[in-house]
Order: sequence, then structure tokens, then C-alpha cells
Amino acid sequence: MSVESLLLRNVRMVLADGSLFEGDLLCENGRIAAIDRILVGADRCIDGAGRVLLPGVIDPQVHFREPGKEYKEDLQTGSWACARGGVTSFLEMPNTSPPTTTQERLQDKLDRAALKCVVNYGFFIGATADNLDELKTAEPACGVKIFMGASTGDLLVDDPVVLERIFREVPRLIAVHAEDESRIRERTRVFAGRTDPHVHSQLRDNECARLATAQALALSRRYRRRLHILHLSTAEEVELLRQDKPAWVTAEATPQHLFWTTDAYDKIGMRAKMNPPLRSEADRRALWAGLRSGLIDLIATDHAPHLKAEKDRDYSEAAAGMTGVETSLPLMLTAVHRGEATLNDVTRWMSVNPALAYAIPNKGRIAPGYDADLALVDMETFQTVQAQDLLTRCGWSPFEGWSLTGWPALTVVGGQIAFENGEVHRETRGRPLSFGPVS
Ligand code: DOR
Repeated sequence: MSVESLLLRNVRMVLADGSLFEGDLLCENGRIAAIDRILVGADRCIDGAGRVLLPGVIDPQVHFREPGKEYKEDLQTGSWACARGGVTSFLEMPNTSPPTTTQERLQDKLDRAALKCVVNYGFFIGATADNLDELKTAEPACGVKIFMGASTGDLLVDDPVVLERIFREVPRLIAVHAEDESRIRERTRVFAGRTDPHVHSQLRDNECARLATAQALALSRRYRRRLHILHLSTAEEVELLRQDKPAWVTAEATPQHLFWTTDAYDKIGMRAKMNPPLRSEADRRALWAGLRSGLIDLIATDHAPHLKAEKDRDYSEAAAGMTGVETSLPLMLTAVHRGEATLNDVTRWMSVNPALAYAIPNKGRIAPGYDADLALVDMETFQTVQAQDLLTRCGWSPFEGWSLTGWPALTVVGGQIAFENGEVHRETRGRPLSFGPVS
């Protein structure tokens, strides 16, 4: 049921200045209309019982498989999983079938999303060797995605001439999957015959990531081009940013790289296979340090659903990628519970900075006039991640069995309820995101 006004009473909200304010919040016509100690009068009133209210998470890297591989996820199930996880907006990657490499295919995704997504949505346009004009003009796109190293799907731009041309000529945000393709190929030959999961992190080693990140940074500096480095995974890349991070560069880390190391292969086998791979404890610590110091700006899940049958295979055949949108906020809020981050950090990494990085107007903060995209989370109760509770169609999580707190009790998208008391409000509809100019 749609409501024109929604009053959330008795909540502790993380405000734009980082402070915690106890009181009421009124949503009207999709926006935050008022915040005060006590407010009255709305179509619907919900007592937050002192729970924490956060700006909804903006997850700027997900793979929802529509069109082409809907048997593992589609825009509807992906958006339901988002709502359960407190994710109110997502940016989706172009490695679908067919890939999102033209204006027409971008529009097709937008049309599909409008019919079935319960949260807000935006899409990348994927770079190929010959779609330069589309990369320049496709709208509305949150940015250009370049796979510098091959991963799931066929998208790949590893020719240095083509890469340089894109950086020279495309005046918009360029997001890179930074792994060096020639080193991956060389090492695939070296490690041929190995079937155990640990080989993945050895084959696509830290140097693969460092080489490609250094190359992308050099191109971004040369052409002063807005660069976003996706899923940073190594201490070496953090060090590159420490040496020189231009003002127009941002970077992200995933919960998988922040909470798992290569030990995961001994516990969950090939389910832990992803690109770029899990790394050592020293790398994991470097990512946390990078986040805390601001060298890494934000968190993205790289939610990459594959069926269990596609994962539980020999090394060379197992699909790469793990699910994430349902667990990213509880994982980070469990870190808050343990004293490893603050509520304000989590808000900055998961809401404020993604909105700034992609120039998404009016989102990412709790303040009057901002869009009413919100997550009311329960910081008191712990709940174990269980396959049977997951809404992602592929039905598994690398964090199964982990006891987490900070689960959303309520997720609000544009002032409408998208998730409440364990149920998705399936009739709620998100809206297309818009993206301001980047420099
Ligand atoms: O592990 C990954 N899986 N990394 C990517 O970059 C792509 C993703 C997928 O789409 O499966």
C-alpha cells in the first residue's frame, strides 16, 4: 500500500554531520520533510522503539544477471535481496547476456527495472574495443565499466591502445576492474593442472592487481579523468593510493575482502572464488586501514550470484563471485558492535560517499529535503545468516553460519516501505537514479 506520508517515531538517527539524534522523522512525497524531537500527523506512523535509523545503503557494484542469466538472479529478486539488506539503491554492472554496451541495451535494463525493482536503480555501460561513441553518450549511465582483466562474461579491454583512447576521449566516470590480463594468461599456463581453490589467489596474485591499478591511475592522471577503482584487494594498491591519490580518484573495498582471507578456501571451498581473489591477513588489514584513513572511499558488495552447482566444481570450472547485498550492512554493523568502526563510518562508507562518488543528487544522508531512503536497524539482536532466509535467487551466502547484528527491521525507499518485519513489500517501486556531472 503506498503512503503519502510516513512518520518514524522514537528512532536514533545518524545525521549528516555524523551526530546521533533521538527523535522522529517525517517522510512526505518521497522526501524527508522534517526531523524533530516529537512530530505528529501522517498516513502511517511506525514506532522505532529506539532503534538506529540510517540513510539507506547505496551499493555501487552489483551483478543482477538480467537479461540472460535470470536463473541465478533477476532485477526483481536482486532488488528484494537489497531491500532485506537495507540497500535502497544499486548500481548494476554491464556483464549480462547480452552485455550492456549500447544505449538500447541500457534502456532495456531501465525499462525492466521500472517494472520490477523495489529499490532505486542505475546501470553502467560496458566498454568494448569498438563502442567509444556509446560510451560517450549513453544516458543515464552511472559510468563506464572497464574489465581490464577477464572475469564473468565476455567484456574485456586489455589492449593498451584502446584503454588509452577511452581515458582520452570519454569525459565521464570510468570504473575499472583492475587485474592485468596478460599476467593472468601467463600464470594460467604456469598453474595449469592445479585444482585446489588456493591456486586462485596465487594465479591472480597481488601483482596482477597492482599492475592494472597502477596503469589505470597513470591514465587517469594523464587525462585528468574521473576514475573509480572497483574492489581494491591488496596492500600494494592501498600503497599506490597513499603515494598519490588525485582528487578525482575514488576506490572501494568489498565485505568479502574485509572479512575473509584465503583461509576461506579451507572453509567454503570454491564458493570463496571471486575476482579479484581473496588475499592474506596483511592485505585485509591494509584495506581496513585504507578505509579508516579515507584512501578507500566506500564499500560495494560486488554481489555476483551463481548457482551452488556452478560454484562447487573443480578450480578451472567454478564460477567466480559471491553474493552480498543481504549481508553487507549487518556485517559492517557487527564491526561497529565490536568497536572496529563507528555508525558514522558505516554511513560514510555505504551511503554518503557512494552518493558523492557517483554524483547522485539528494541521496545518502538523513537531512530535510533529502530523498526518504532509509534503513531502520536492530543493533540489539544477533541473527545467524541462513540459506533459507536469503532472498537472492541463487540461495547461498559466503557468510552462512555467521552471527550478525544490525539487520534491517524496516527499509524505506522514496518514503514507501520496501521491507518490514521480514517481508518485502513487493508492490513498492524504486526509481531510476540520476547522475550529475563528474570532473
Ligand atoms: O568474481 C567476480 N564475479 N568478479 C567480477 O568482476 C564479476 C563477477 C560476476 O559477474 O560473476
